[in-house]
Amino acid sequence: MNNPEPHILIIFGASGDLTKRKLIPALYELFEQKLLPEKFAVLGVSRTELSDQEFRQKMREFLPGTSKNEAQLTIFLESLFYQSLETSFAGDYLKLKKRLETLGQTLSIPANYIFYLSTPPLLYPVIPQILAESGLNDVSQGFKRIIIEKPFGTDLSSARDLNRKLLSYYTEDQLYRIDHYLGKETVQNMLVTRFSNGIFEPIWNQNFIHHVEITSAETLGVEDRGGYYEHSGALRDMVQNHLMQLVGLIAMEPPVVIEANAIRNEMLKVFQSMRPIRETDVPNQVFRGQYTQSHINNEHVKGYREEKGVDPQSKTETYVAIKFFIDNFRWAGVPFYIRTGKKLPTRVTEVVIYFKTIPHHLFVYQSDSEPINNQLVLRIQPDEGILLKLGMKVPGAGFRVQTMNMDFHYNELSNSYLPSAYSRLLLDCMHGDATLYSRSDAVEKAWECVQPILDAWQNNPDIPVYGYPAGTWGPETVDNLVENSIWRKPCKNLAHDGEYCEL
Ligand code: BG6
Repeated sequence: MNNPEPHILIIFGASGDLTKRKLIPALYELFEQKLLPEKFAVLGVSRTELSDQEFRQKMREFLPGTSKNEAQLTIFLESLFYQSLETSFAGDYLKLKKRLETLGQTLSIPANYIFYLSTPPLLYPVIPQILAESGLNDVSQGFKRIIIEKPFGTDLSSARDLNRKLLSYYTEDQLYRIDHYLGKETVQNMLVTRFSNGIFEPIWNQNFIHHVEITSAETLGVEDRGGYYEHSGALRDMVQNHLMQLVGLIAMEPPVVIEANAIRNEMLKVFQSMRPIRETDVPNQVFRGQYTQSHINNEHVKGYREEKGVDPQSKTETYVAIKFFIDNFRWAGVPFYIRTGKKLPTRVTEVVIYFKTIPHHLFVYQSDSEPINNQLVLRIQPDEGILLKLGMKVPGAGFRVQTMNMDFHYNELSNSYLPSAYSRLLLDCMHGDATLYSRSDAVEKAWECVQPILDAWQNNPDIPVYGYPAGTWGPETVDNLVENSIWRKPCKNLAHDGEYCEL
């Protein structure tokens, strides 16, 4: 593939955390891989007064430093520029426009611009409007694209409002709603696993699959994001976006072609087929929890209510588990379980497909009284890979069966360059490819799926928030959600499950 067309990437919120921790390192990664355009510049924008040089120095601290790559780093840093701006003040955008023109002339870059909104969400409707009013959405001299960070709205109605507003100034193909989960190599591999292997697709349906379990567990708590998290909670922070995307990729029909709209149409259909969880179903189908203080490795760990920026009486959920169904031909009757939480025993994101057991039992099973469900584990992180659980004969006399693991680990492909999620997504946007970005209708549909849960919690404050000690697998009562089976307790290492587990 050719390198992207020359352009300037304008990052609003350039003094924020995301810029230095994710965006600049991702751009540097693209630079090292020689994937950036030949003529390219980054213009950091925020309120803080900084010179280009000061901005470069600040960003330098977040880039890998060895004497070997010092010359490369210098070249990269020279492509960074900075403009201080009162982001919500329209009068200031003339400064921005002038600066972009000057940069364009000096560096011979045409008026191709990508605006990255890495600001507080309140500014998501404001900045694009002022850009448009300043003529910076005019595509006659070059492309204009906008990348919008999550959260895209705080509920269904605010997401709709935001879409409406953006679409009154821009066309859908100028808008790139980012969900960094879609940028993960292993998330994209779910499509490849499903649609490039003849053995999976024929059994990927309600005839053969018993249930599907999706887990996204984190060991970290809310750290210094208590203020944001208090108004978000796990449902808005993780489920409405990241986990819904995983559900979409696991459950979708094969797209006609691998192209943005074909894939996004199929994702949308999954969200449209999700059986709405009515407010009255919420107490039985949705469990919420909050971590309480505990001891991990003899160290005291704070409970959520003791975190900075958190109300000591807070009912915000740091854990949520949901059971739902997808009412279509493929998935009728198959329960889907998703769970996510902070301060769980290990950091892991994975999808587990539990196949139905064989219809007639011939053998004696080593440790289980019942034949095992074959399981296919698609591990997204860490120890990225795929694990298949199979029944095998125990060597020796008779026909006893034990469960064995067949595993593939991505790190075995040591020669391949695995782009970070942000590098991949930034590069796609530079190429004008929105396949891995969310479309307006899908974002709204995903909100429609979670909105009844938010409403139920809002209208019925008696729905319990179960406490769970930090470092455990969430509230015990959540086990009641899953019939006939228990949640998998994954380990850091994909194949280390059962007796020994390195957390
Ligand atoms: C972010 C959430 O979108 O995703 C965080 O706001 C969460 O709360 C993070 O920690 C998880 O991302 P990852 O890539 O570490 O799984």
